[in-house]
Amino acid sequence: MKIILAMVISADGKSTKWDLKDQSWASPEDKTHLIKLISDNNLILMGGKTYEVAKNFIKPREEKLRMVVTRNPQRFSADSIEDQLEFTNKPVTELILDLEKRGFEQLLLLSGEGLNRQFFEAGLVDEIILTIEPKIFGSGNAIISETKLDLELKLLSYEKLNERGTLLLHYQIIR
Ligand SMILES: NC(=O)c1ccc[n+]([C@@H]2O[C@H](COP(=O)([O-])OP(=O)(O)OC[C@H]3O[C@@H](n4cnc5c(N)ncnc54)[C@H](OP(=O)(O)O)[C@@H]3O)[C@@H](O)[C@H]2O)c1
Repeated sequence: MKIILAMVISADGKSTKWDLKDQSWASPEDKTHLIKLISDNNLILMGGKTYEVAKNFIKPREEKLRMVVTRNPQRFSADSIEDQLEFTNKPVTELILDLEKRGFEQLLLLSGEGLNRQFFEAGLVDEIILTIEPKIFGSGNAIISETKLDLELKLLSYEKLNERGTLLLHYQIIR
């Protein structure tokens, strides 16, 4: 399974603005990029907290599976639609094996620092697509936290998305 992490961050590396939950601070160009990324990927995985923020924008589609990792899948049973919007409390390595058995070959990870850490620590992330907005927040969540990593990346492509200088960087993790 190829796993691609996509995030928008500030120039000082924050994935949330202070303690605000949403990414309304991201540029319209990043939103356009994110919509395309979502439409290009049949399998998307997020954490329960990200789902709570994004759920009004998630429109279940027959050919796409959105998987949400939560300690309490029962809490979301009213939202659950088999093969389209599923909730699980499986550990990430077990979950990825299950998804491979279901025939998926690529996963787009759209999550916060908590779930990201588990994917990085398990060595599961292959590529990172980062949007860097020309903003400084000073405080907020990180891409990953509470761990020590030493990963080497290779830049695959870069693009300036607008006049202000929002940058789109696509990295591969060197194994
Ligand atoms: N800048 C960006 O591109 C970007 C992208 C995504 C998210 N975000 C932001 O990041 C924030 C959320 O980040 P976060 O790190 O707090 O949350 P998160 O990674 O989205 O989700 C954490 C939640 O995932 C569930 N979870 C994680 N590991 C689990 C495990 N091993 N077993 C079962 N459940 C597990 C738990 O859900 P339950 O609480 O339901 O048990 C946990 O509270 C939001 O504000 C969101 O908007 C930013």
